[in-house]
Amino acid sequence: MCGIVGIIGNQPVAPLLVDALKRLEYRGYDSAGVATLHDGKLDRRRAEGKLINLETELTSTPLEGNVGIGHTRWATHGAPTQNNAHPHFCEGVAVVHNGIIENFSEIRDELSARGAQFTTDTDTEVVAQLLASLLRSGKSTKEAMLATLNIIRGAYAIAVLIEGENGQIIGARNGPPLAVGYGKGEMFLGSDAIALSPFTDDITYLEDGDWAIIDRNGVEIFDIEGNSVERARRKAFTAYAQVDKGNHRHFMEKEIYEQPEVMSHTLAHYVDFSSGRVRDIASEIDFSSVDSLKIAACGTAYYAGQIGKNWFERYAGLPVEIDVASEFRYREMPLPGSQAALFVSQSGETADTLASLRYCKEHGLKIGAIVNVRESTIAREADVVFPTLAGPEIGVASTKALTCQLSAFAALAIAAGRARGTLVEDEEVNMVRALSEAPRIAGSVLNTIQPQLETLSRELSKFRHVLYLGRGTNYTLAMEGALKLKEISYIHAEGYAAGELKHGPIALIDENMPVIVIAPHDRHFEKTISNMQEVAARGGRIIFITDENGAAASTLETMSTIVLPNVDELVMPLIFTLPVQLLAYHTAVFMGTDVDQPRNLAKSVTVE
Ligand code: F6R
Repeated sequence: MCGIVGIIGNQPVAPLLVDALKRLEYRGYDSAGVATLHDGKLDRRRAEGKLINLETELTSTPLEGNVGIGHTRWATHGAPTQNNAHPHFCEGVAVVHNGIIENFSEIRDELSARGAQFTTDTDTEVVAQLLASLLRSGKSTKEAMLATLNIIRGAYAIAVLIEGENGQIIGARNGPPLAVGYGKGEMFLGSDAIALSPFTDDITYLEDGDWAIIDRNGVEIFDIEGNSVERARRKAFTAYAQVDKGNHRHFMEKEIYEQPEVMSHTLAHYVDFSSGRVRDIASEIDFSSVDSLKIAACGTAYYAGQIGKNWFERYAGLPVEIDVASEFRYREMPLPGSQAALFVSQSGETADTLASLRYCKEHGLKIGAIVNVRESTIAREADVVFPTLAGPEIGVASTKALTCQLSAFAALAIAAGRARGTLVEDEEVNMVRALSEAPRIAGSVLNTIQPQLETLSRELSKFRHVLYLGRGTNYTLAMEGALKLKEISYIHAEGYAAGELKHGPIALIDENMPVIVIAPHDRHFEKTISNMQEVAARGGRIIFITDENGAAASTLETMSTIVLPNVDELVMPLIFTLPVQLLAYHTAVFMGTDVDQPRNLAKSVTVE
């Protein structure tokens, strides 16, 4: 999604704005721009595509000025052209915006009827035009901003520069996050702590409905009625300061290889390895008193939730209903009896997940959030936060966030089993012991399978369609594998429950459609092998991801067999997701795609 940054500095800010925008690149964007105030005048540079194009513009025609705003745009209304790129200007007003102004066409019609000339296809331009028209009518900056915010509807984070208010930036938030940063004689504004990390870790997050006038001396924050409000200053988590690729080619590769470490951090937060027991934090929802659990999330976080459902039902006898958040929020489902709800999100800002959370909150459910960004809106609105300690995830494709979400889910399911009396102490100790081995096993798997997967990926990159099959938690990994492959390599991929094969997808099987079967030697193994036979009998090429016992038990000919160590069934999803990630990663590298920022995708999806 779009990224916003603003700086009131003591030196020319354009290069600093571009650097800050680079730290927001991971969110996904397709054009960018900066505007500054210099000698009381606004000026801007904008460019289509990557930030390098904006840098080229700035090199040929530099921008002066110690106060400025910048933006990376992920197009919603209007194509990603230079003309539609932010900042948008109107009569001495400059605006950058993240989100959607829902009533933009109404406002545009009204302003056009009064003679306004619109020059872009964006919803954002109405904010600049509206603000300019209110200033023209004689309102003060504060009055005009307040009136504008009371007219526009939708989800937005906004930053504004106004000629005449030369040392000032105005920010507003209703949905997508916006943080004010405090420096020494300097002030900052940004979509997240990562953007501001080299400048400051002293931060105030605006709340929904807040807007702020920032100048060199500080910030004054107001609510939507114009009343002054106090918001806490906090230290951003230091991990945000260290965001680089290290020795890796891509953030995604780095994040895949970080998994043993971050998985162990997350597990250590929830379980005490020495006693073999789950810590109290995992019991902050009283699982013994709930009849059922609701889970909602999007994309990969949803798949973490599906595996979590599997574990809660199996180990704690707790029925779970799960849905993708974009459906969950609109289902108007009744929520009777005693229930709790869990929402899963790396960014903690996903609009549909947040809306689902609010729906459950309104219905009185106890809300737990499994989130990676601790200052996020979802974390702040939940009753209980179950953090994942993955550190900043920059690659658009989620990898380490998933294994950390699974680590948290495993501990929560064990806590629920203990609370509900479905697990006895010995079982809990055995499960915690199995979990404690997961980071070490993950490390050795990552160190050993890479050459085979790289060779295989070269082959896979020649195909246009791929099918993934699995049963149980491996069915979820099949869907996750298909999602990973399609989003970064643009190869069409589908994940299916292996048992569903003969209900339709088998019609697709031929030598041009490789079938990736994820089947460790678990209780589903024999059945999945039968499905593999069906594929082989129709000339399908099989890539078999299994464990040592599975490899020994199968005699089927495959295009490639990837053999992982035998592991406890609880730990399987944490380990079997690794070859799935690496296969997608290396295939994308062979295809030459933009692995960390695949086309059309955004990291933090703050619009629905
Ligand atoms: C896939 C991926 C997305 C996210 C989804 C939810 O690799 O990254 O599907 O999982 O957009 O995002 P969060 O977890 O931030 O709510």
